[in-house]
Amino acid sequence: MDVQAEVLKRYSEGAEERQAELCCPIDYDAALLKLLPQEIIEKDYGCGDPSRYVREGDVVLDLGSGAGKICYMAAQLVGAEGRVIGVDMNDDMLALARKYQPEMAHQLGGDRVRFLKGYIQDLALDIDEMERHLAGQPVHTAADYSRLQDWQARQRREHPLIPDASVDLVISNCVLNLVHDGDKQQLVNEIYRVLKPGGRIAISDIICDEPVPEHLKRDSQLWSGCISGAFQEAEFLQAFVDAGFLAVTYDKWDVQPWQVVEGIEFRSATLTAVKGKGGPCLDYGHAVIYRGPYAEVRDDEGHVFPRGERMAVCERTCSLLTGGAYGEDFVGIAPAITGEPKAFCAPPGTRRPASETKGGKYTTGCGDSCCC
Ligand SMILES: C[S@@+](CC[C@H](N)C(=O)[O-])C[C@H]1O[C@@H](n2cnc3c(N)ncnc32)[C@H](O)[C@@H]1O
Repeated sequence: MDVQAEVLKRYSEGAEERQAELCCPIDYDAALLKLLPQEIIEKDYGCGDPSRYVREGDVVLDLGSGAGKICYMAAQLVGAEGRVIGVDMNDDMLALARKYQPEMAHQLGGDRVRFLKGYIQDLALDIDEMERHLAGQPVHTAADYSRLQDWQARQRREHPLIPDASVDLVISNCVLNLVHDGDKQQLVNEIYRVLKPGGRIAISDIICDEPVPEHLKRDSQLWSGCISGAFQEAEFLQAFVDAGFLAVTYDKWDVQPWQVVEGIEFRSATLTAVKGKGGPCLDYGHAVIYRGPYAEVRDDEGHVFPRGERMAVCERTCSLLTGGAYGEDFVGIAPAITGEPKAFCAPPGTRRPASETKGGKYTTGCGDSCCC
């Protein structure tokens, strides 16, 4: 089965006419729907609401933007300083989303949304640009194909559709499951590439509780209907951990499956995570205390935090653990006096005596401000 061709056909039909079987009931914020044209509201093929993670001023990238509903909702939340980019591979969906762009720009008081043609597993390649190139230099021979590959590599490098580290928040609504299994890890790596250090993701998608057998994967209706291409629930999280994301979490989990096929439950969930800020790991004398309720927790960088213990961390880890991505699980304490870093980084498991942080500033994990 040609996965991409099946998905293209199904969503071209979906752009033309509402496909009821692709619509999963979702509780959107009604206030954000008020401005939207009825056609955009009806041709909604999402399974969650990643718009609720958008903050004012964000540059937002929506993967598989379809008719543009989530983009137009996000555009209201980013405000005049933010912008929203929708990427989709389907011309009919892009045309539908773009049809309402002038009307929405007028309603929003600014043209903050753009819809780009691209494959979400290859966000550097501008497909409109490639089609213009192919019109002048079609591919007939293996040599032509090799020249096309060189051209693509140069385009990705010199004129990427979505540049490295250019996005604050990547969102997606019921799309990752449609990507060929062999391209799924590359897709997650691409999400990591385009995010700014400290950037966030909120991905609503269909996941399944057991691996999907081959005969279901080969069923084109089940695949294009957002079922049999679903990630298995543990693999979905792991794909993001493997790409380097931190604080990878199921923030929302539908108890009720959307569909059950041959005993396998397919349900909607929303995954959130952050891209670390990077930078050197320097021990200035910060500490964090894990509040509980578990006896201890371990993060994806290998630090272990026993409940209630004052643990030595570098400035970067302190900032990450108390910066909002971990909710209010940690209390951060800055050193009373910031001097030169003592060592490259205290080994995981090092306790920090209270005497070293006494008088330092406390952070209780409720926002972006770090403990330093
Ligand atoms: C299930 S619909 C969801 C649309 C939209 N997110 C919504 O909430 O209504 C899937 C969309 O993803 C697009 N899509 C699927 N695979 C894609 C890929 N590999 N690259 C880009 N777009 C893709 C389809 O064209 C379609 O518009």
